[in-house]
Amino acid sequence: MKEQIKFYGGEEIPLELHKVRIVQKLHLVPIERRLSALYEGGFNTFQLGTRDVFLDMLTDSGTNAMSDQQLASMMQADDAYSGSQSFTRLHTAVEEVLGKKYFLPVHQGRAAEHIISKTFIKKGDVIPMNYHFTTALAHIAECGGTIAELLHDDALQIKSDNPFKGNIDIDKLVACIEKNGKEKIPFIRMEASTNLIGGQPFSIANLMDVRRVADKYGIMLVLDASLIGENAYLIKQREKEWQENTMSDILKMMTNLTDLVYFSARKLSSSRGGGICTNRKELYGKMEALVPLFEGFLTYGGMSVREIEAMAVGLYETLDETIISQSPEFIKYFVNQLDALGIPVVTPAGVLGCHIDAKQFCAHIPQPEYPAGALAAAFFLISGVRGMERGTISSVRDEEGKEILADVELLRLAIPRRVFTLSQIRYVIDRLQWLYDNREMIGGLKFTYEPPVLRFFMGKLAPVSDWPEKMMAKFRRDFGSSL
Ligand code: F0G
Repeated sequence: MKEQIKFYGGEEIPLELHKVRIVQKLHLVPIERRLSALYEGGFNTFQLGTRDVFLDMLTDSGTNAMSDQQLASMMQADDAYSGSQSFTRLHTAVEEVLGKKYFLPVHQGRAAEHIISKTFIKKGDVIPMNYHFTTALAHIAECGGTIAELLHDDALQIKSDNPFKGNIDIDKLVACIEKNGKEKIPFIRMEASTNLIGGQPFSIANLMDVRRVADKYGIMLVLDASLIGENAYLIKQREKEWQENTMSDILKMMTNLTDLVYFSARKLSSSRGGGICTNRKELYGKMEALVPLFEGFLTYGGMSVREIEAMAVGLYETLDETIISQSPEFIKYFVNQLDALGIPVVTPAGVLGCHIDAKQFCAHIPQPEYPAGALAAAFFLISGVRGMERGTISSVRDEEGKEILADVELLRLAIPRRVFTLSQIRYVIDRLQWLYDNREMIGGLKFTYEPPVLRFFMGKLAPVSDWPEKMMAKFRRDFGSSL
């Protein structure tokens, strides 16, 4: 294990092991402006402009801080439609870090999901997985497939000490294959650091078990590696057998156990872009032609060469425990502080962000009035901090148009890598504490415009009453300020 830095006074605070060399000024606009911004954006935090946002905790996607090495690499980018040296460097990085020989570049993670789904899924197929991600589900559905989510029963419990909530329940996996027949299952999908249940990892032991089942039935195993670095870091922290291994050993073990690996480089390597890689030439061959059709030529896949250079360096940086640990350690601090204050938060602390349980926080808001969306809007109003709803608004309707209520209603406050300071996290905790004490004032939301696909991105909502105005008045009374 890496040695931990200890404080003489016994405090447990995460210490930044980097210095800030480029800064961006932030604006904390008055609460009156924040309220107007909410109405203009249909109470959907995706629709806010960053001029109105103080701390942007919407996502870590494309918002992780880039390193000096990444920025430097962008200067040597080799512009060429085909055969650029930048791509050669990226290809080498994929081989060295992820251990896969064949690589297809794409413009971002969902483009990989598009190509994989289109190549392998036909109508009526079933994809077993630990849990879905929104864009993965949308692409599977687009190809006529359905999903089977096979987490252990306790994985959706908010407060838990299960270190690997992202594990697949092997009995459920076998039952799913037996029930549907292996001909209907083109692949099993494992998502590293299972995003929608709170950034929760799976263990190597579990991945090995999934591999055994996949081999027994002759089914391909696909890994969504967008958050593989953080999953590997938590394996090192939590899985005894792997504590003495390097990040590289763990990453390689994860990818070696899978046939096909895809990722969003926006998350994985603090850059842009994405990719699909494999050691099986025949799988590569099946997908190859779709890259020039949908993305761009095979040596850029819709990315700029500068992005390609930054991605290559970012991939190597994924092996650096100091870099990868920064966000999970901040999240752990954040989660532990909220937990100590009695604010309902997903435990154990996962990766990507801090996940607050809106079902408990807003227990008075019925699920069809979107408690997580309402909490996200209320929190922006009183803090200027933008989080993301990960609940029923991010879900879909069934074929009859009825809401499929989400398993969990979460407000996600993302902690992109090396972006925020500890005093900013303390501000967020302070405002959450105020909101928790005033939680009865938060009201529900209703759709005023609901797009048919991925409605959470562009949808517009409105409050069911004048609760935002009342909350603003209370905020001004309590703080004696509109900031
Ligand atoms: N897979 C996972 C696990 C993801 O978290 C994401 C994106 C994707 C695939 C799609 O990648 O955005 O590059 O097309 N997650 C972002 C988020 C959007 O905010 O969690 P993409």
